[in-house]
Amino acid sequence: MLRLDLLDPLISGNKWFKLSHHLRAAQDSDAVGVISLGGAHSNHLHALAAAGKRFNFQTVGLLRGLPQQTPTVADLQAFGMQLHWLGYAGYRARHAPEFWLPWLADYPGFYPVPEGGGGLPGALGCMCLVSQVREQLASLGWDDYDAWWLAAGTGTTLAGLLLGEAAAHPVHGALAVPADHGVEQQVQAIVQEAAMPVGRYQLHAACRGGFAKVDDELLGFMQAAETESGVPLEPLYTAKALMALRQQVEAGYFARGSRLVFVHTGGLQGRAAALLQHSQACLAD
Ligand SMILES: Cc1ncc(COP(=O)(O)O)c(C=O)c1O
Repeated sequence: MLRLDLLDPLISGNKWFKLSHHLRAAQDSDAVGVISLGGAHSNHLHALAAAGKRFNFQTVGLLRGLPQQTPTVADLQAFGMQLHWLGYAGYRARHAPEFWLPWLADYPGFYPVPEGGGGLPGALGCMCLVSQVREQLASLGWDDYDAWWLAAGTGTTLAGLLLGEAAAHPVHGALAVPADHGVEQQVQAIVQEAAMPVGRYQLHAACRGGFAKVDDELLGFMQAAETESGVPLEPLYTAKALMALRQQVEAGYFARGSRLVFVHTGGLQGRAAALLQHSQACLAD
């Protein structure tokens, strides 16, 4: 397991890597700050706001839906991120070509980063994970591995691994979102824009009824896995990905003795809120 959750207390998981090229581009263009989008529990906005505070640049967050106070939102405010709530229709317009114009008029000199730190720059930032893992495994005496397994939300991190692997090993993405959420298309778009050789990848259903849907079986698995391994997980990405992996192993999907690199993509900042939401939903039922 590649423990990206241990990277940094705030800018943790795949976010560090997904943000790195975006932030370098912002710096290269002498931006005064960075503006981006996400939900009220967004790990991406959380990492971006923390990076702004740590490295001393301004941040603006455009949020989905109506104003609400969540632990993530409280942190964003504490980190000094300027927040705007777009409603649901306003947020759906985020892919329109003219979406950023009024925001960049309000915040001149800001650098826009797409939702989740995605797109080709996000993927390029994740490419180095491949060489880093190979170096670490070599130092542990592993001569090779067979495949990667990780959670996929937009598919950006997975695309970065594909680019880094240059077809050497397959990459498996456990979908944290339903199959019709366009992950396949986003991975394809990144790979085509990169125009680099890539190998085989496979997307596996893992969202268990929808993004952010949590059920008792998942929580039971998460608790057991945490107790057994001592590795903290969160229910929306890492626990779902690990559970889907176990199901595939049990179903004989991988040959016995296969060596997989599972990526812990972080997201632990949202753990408590996700668990609380589930218990409130259970009480309401
Ligand atoms: C903790 C965690 N894991 C995995 C992902 C999925 O990453 P990606 O959007 O690059 O597929 C996310 C979302 O960005 C996340 O917050």
